[in-house]
Amino acid sequence: MNSNFVPLSTEELIAKINKIPKVSLAQLPTNLEFAPNISKELNINLYIKRDDCTALAFGGNKTRHLEFILAKTLYGDYDCILTGASSQSNFCRQAAAAANKLNLDSYLVLMHGVKGTLMQGNFLLYNILGANVDVVEGEDLEKIPKHLDQKYNQLINKGRKPLLIYGGFGKEDTALASISYANAMAEIDLQMKEQKFMADHLFVTAANMTQAGCELGAKILNWPTRIQGISPVYWEMDIKKDIARICNDGAKLLDINLEFSHDMINHDNNYVGEKYGATTEEGIKAMKLLANKEGIILDPVYTSKGFAALIDYVQKGIIKKGQNVIFIYTGGSPAVFAYNEEITKNSTL
Ligand SMILES: Cc1ncc(COP(=O)(O)O)c(C=O)c1O
Repeated sequence: MNSNFVPLSTEELIAKINKIPKVSLAQLPTNLEFAPNISKELNINLYIKRDDCTALAFGGNKTRHLEFILAKTLYGDYDCILTGASSQSNFCRQAAAAANKLNLDSYLVLMHGVKGTLMQGNFLLYNILGANVDVVEGEDLEKIPKHLDQKYNQLINKGRKPLLIYGGFGKEDTALASISYANAMAEIDLQMKEQKFMADHLFVTAANMTQAGCELGAKILNWPTRIQGISPVYWEMDIKKDIARICNDGAKLLDINLEFSHDMINHDNNYVGEKYGATTEEGIKAMKLLANKEGIILDPVYTSKGFAALIDYVQKGIIKKGQNVIFIYTGGSPAVFAYNEEITKNSTL
């Protein structure tokens, strides 16, 4: 971090964020809820940031991102959006819903991955939302930009005016998404003051941009908190470098003199299991534990693995007895319906 950086107050950070254009899609702030039963079970004070309740089509972290990414539609000439991810993508579900609110058609290019065209969970919701869906073979998420470029050319040749959203693979989109999570940190800052605590740890299940926003906001506000990202995927690329790069791009957008490097980022891929989109035993156990203790339903692909990591960090003593921990619940629960077999196959979990 730059030695001459002066932290901002919450109000100063919010004022800077408010200068960046956005469309209104989410109900904010989301609650920061103390979870008494699971706190007792784990011997910590656990608070859950309910970003599953952003309200747009079952909610999630991507609604925050899209508020900033889709601001381009206010100024440009677009008649549809084009984006892509895996076949059970929470991002694509929220993007299609957001497009509908903005009177735009949506085109989705989806990697087949584990669940393919199974008409359940998010895939069923694309259908209800009226999105135009192409499923391509394979599961390597890093191939998505190539498929999006092909589809973009097809749409242009047909006379359509698509807003191409690369999401996690786009320099501009990731920077804008990080701003939306710096904003979530400002919300949490106010909520912690109100609830009279400071977090020792913050856990977020993140591919790249959500964690970048958490890092950015926490540094700007000078929190002492350890931010821990838990990965849902094994990347070929150097993901810590990518997250630091997004933090730097976000800081520039906010006109803040901060420099991040990959060694400042805690990002753990030990809880992915076999691969992206496949469940883990620990994840399903964690999902059922939180459901039983607090009535909160995590998702099978992201947050259940993130919560399994949190439990493991408690068991390993990285999170200590009595510490204050925030878990950002980034949403994704509609995917449980596509994973009914994995969730129920082992009754001892
Ligand atoms: C439920 C859920 N949590 C976390 C993430 C990771 O977010 P990001 O790609 O912004 O790091 C995603 C991404 O799709 C998600 O759907």
